[in-house]
Amino acid sequence: MAYPTKPWTETDTGLDGFRLWPGLLDTDTQKALLHDVQTRVARAPFYQPATPGGRPFSVRMTNFGPLGWVSDKQGYRYQRNHPVMHQPWPDIPPLLLDLWRDLTGWPEPPDACLVNLYRDTARMGLHQDKDEADMGAPVLSISLGDTAVFRFGPAEGGGTRSVKLASGDVCALTGPARLARHGIDRLLVGSSTLVPQGGRINLTLRKAL
Ligand code: SIN
Ligand code: FE2
Repeated sequence: MAYPTKPWTETDTGLDGFRLWPGLLDTDTQKALLHDVQTRVARAPFYQPATPGGRPFSVRMTNFGPLGWVSDKQGYRYQRNHPVMHQPWPDIPPLLLDLWRDLTGWPEPPDACLVNLYRDTARMGLHQDKDEADMGAPVLSISLGDTAVFRFGPAEGGGTRSVKLASGDVCALTGPARLARHGIDRLLVGSSTLVPQGGRINLTLRKAL
């Protein structure tokens, strides 16, 4: 890999296709990635989206890459411009493109990177990622900052379980788990000092088109 990591170990999550690499990014790499995020957020600030029904998300969002996931009264979709700045999204940090290549082995790079900012009581309800044109491509997720309780379960039926995602953890929804239901129950506020003013940043790489 082109970046430092801790020993590259994958944990069994009990859900076929839901892959988890706890602590993959060491502290220096987390700091470098956070810096990459901050320089881009300066141009594409976090904003507060709302559901198509008009309910504000508790999570703040922005995107990197050619396409960004947005939600408003017109629905969920991918678009090329920041909805507030009306400018193209910044590029995806190269480190994330390397991670995608090395961990997923997918033949094409991701074209969308959703950036979620959770503070305090922010959470995300159970959902499936299904706004992408090709749902065969994996979803790769990187956690920075406070630990989160990540809830997941199969696409249909069956119960859900939770796993803690800490700073530097990387996980992926692939193959049979690509349409797994998932969400964030809550943050363990103050569990990390990485993110200025506290909280958690999650980066989700997807192939939207
Ligand atoms: C998401 O499903 O969009 C975010 C999941 C996370 O924050 O880990
Ligand atoms: Fe999701």
